[in-house]
Amino acid sequence: MSILKVDNVTAGYTPESSILHGLTLELNEGEIVSIIGPNGAGKSTLLKAIFGLLKPTEGQILLRGENIAGMPPFKIAKKGLSYVPQVDNIFPSLTIQENLEMGAFIRDDDYSGTMEGVFSLFPVLKERRNTRAGTLSGGQRQMVAMGRALMLNPSILLLDEPSAGLAPIFVSSIFEKIKEINATGVSILIVEQNAKEALKMSHRGYVLAMGRNVMDDDSDALLNNEDVGKLYLGG
Ligand SMILES: Nc1ncnc2c1ncn2[C@@H]1O[C@H](COP(=O)(O)OP(=O)(O)OP(=O)(O)O)[C@@H](O)[C@H]1O
Ligand SMILES: [Mg+2]
Repeated sequence: MSILKVDNVTAGYTPESSILHGLTLELNEGEIVSIIGPNGAGKSTLLKAIFGLLKPTEGQILLRGENIAGMPPFKIAKKGLSYVPQVDNIFPSLTIQENLEMGAFIRDDDYSGTMEGVFSLFPVLKERRNTRAGTLSGGQRQMVAMGRALMLNPSILLLDEPSAGLAPIFVSSIFEKIKEINATGVSILIVEQNAKEALKMSHRGYVLAMGRNVMDDDSDALLNNEDVGKLYLGG
């Protein structure tokens, strides 16, 4: 069943100039879906539109069938959709624990169990809970950013370039964590520069270019597609 559907969405940063041109995409319950494409293709813009940071001028964004297009982000977050931006995704001057608490700020129930869950997924964050996030390595910052998003107990997680700037060993460990999160029942839409590795852990993928759909298929089909390989997977 489709838990999230982007239906023919046109959106941009100003009303006069669209960046996304009639984009369509679906995320089914339980899936990991990758979005790949060159720099400037509109991948981050698409995630921003889904999370309510941009209001589409056309089309619908359906969360379990409800159109959330243009709804404010905190309302979308309350409906179980969390977002980890590509940049500025932590509060550097706050401690790890404070960052996680910020992630739960719209919750009015007891979130201590959720925090324990985040700590068991990322034990290093527990050890260093009182450390300022700004002093952490890139890989650990990414864990804080993901942990913060998980504090809402989301059913859908949007991840924008979680492996950006990380050394290969940390890339694979972040991807392992993403698979673990998915195994707990969270559906995941992920944008990745590291397209080949991302597709390998995904069920399906979408290729975007210049704000438009270029192709979508099962990950294996995309990985084996010669044109996709040449153009988007680095040979
Ligand atoms: N805040 C902004 N205001 C105006 N235009 C923007 C803004 N952010 C991005 N753009 C433009 O929107 C287009 C798509 O950018 P976007 O960041 O969505 O691409 P991307 O596919 O995520 O690229 P990358 O792989 O480099 O992260 C680009 O032409 C970019 O210059
Ligand atoms: Mg981007």
